[in-house]
Amino acid sequence: MLEKLARALAKREPLRANGTDALRIVDGRGDGFDDLEIEDFAGNWLVQTRGESFAEWLRDAKEPRSIYRKKLGDKTAPVWFSGEKVDAPFVVHENGVRYEIDFSAGYSQGIFLDQRDNRRALREMARGKTVLNCFAYTCAFGTSAALGGAATVNLDLSKHYLDWGRRNYALNNVDLAAHDFIFGDVANWLERFARKRRTFDIVILDPPTFSRNDKGRVFTIESGFAELVRAAAKLLAPSGTLFCSTNQRSLSPAAFRNLIFAGLDSPERWRVMHAPMPPDFRGEQYLKSFWLRR
Ligand SMILES: C[S@@+](CC[C@H](N)C(=O)[O-])C[C@H]1O[C@@H](n2cnc3c(N)ncnc32)[C@H](O)[C@@H]1O
Repeated sequence: MLEKLARALAKREPLRANGTDALRIVDGRGDGFDDLEIEDFAGNWLVQTRGESFAEWLRDAKEPRSIYRKKLGDKTAPVWFSGEKVDAPFVVHENGVRYEIDFSAGYSQGIFLDQRDNRRALREMARGKTVLNCFAYTCAFGTSAALGGAATVNLDLSKHYLDWGRRNYALNNVDLAAHDFIFGDVANWLERFARKRRTFDIVILDPPTFSRNDKGRVFTIESGFAELVRAAAKLLAPSGTLFCSTNQRSLSPAAFRNLIFAGLDSPERWRVMHAPMPPDFRGEQYLKSFWLRR
């Protein structure tokens, strides 16, 4: 097992070269392991399994500073397994960008590593642009866009996560005064921006697979994504860019693209680019991401 782990680590070594210390170092079957995912957050490993049995052999691994474990689907915070206790938030780096991670924050630790390449792509296209980051969570997309030179607006239904987002901006010495962090429901704000005729060069749509807004309205990808695209497209500047992404496993890339097209008046007028998952995600290709340019 440890040899197989060493091979998985060696394959990821090139990813660490450019200021990245947060990555998936084991991705289930993609690395020859059944039911095992490991993410490395600056030496603190988060080991995730779906079943009850745990990879006890990891106690013999020399590399990690600490190991925490989490059962996928349980919606509970990681629990300590070995090494140092990580009780306080700490910083990881992704392509030189700093993000705050918190193992005691609950089920999610502050960043979704599978969006790394999309965050970098956004940063590269951001100079001089306005970016609306919907479902912002800890504003990782926003931080990346701001560092690329965009004026950003982050929208989320959680004040707690928006505060975390502000801290991510501050960690990267981004002037908070030049950016917005708006608390509220995405659907309401998209309507509000449309009424004010406000436009954006880039709109990011990476929602959860299921959510309930403050008035109890339910959103699912199947029932709500086309409408979300319709509302977002209205806000786009003439040659604007829309980013659509979902981790819903039951949807094929083609089915997700069809949902996106259902929200566009003339899909043929858009250039569509499918973005693959980052190379450390060697297992199931569950994340579907499209960049659309009018
Ligand atoms: C899976 S995360 C989104 C991931 C995020 N795009 C990223 O790159 O890290 C879900 C986020 O959507 C927010 N959210 C869920 N429903 C919402 C709604 N109706 N309006 C605004 N934010 C919402 C949650 O508070 C949470 O922060």
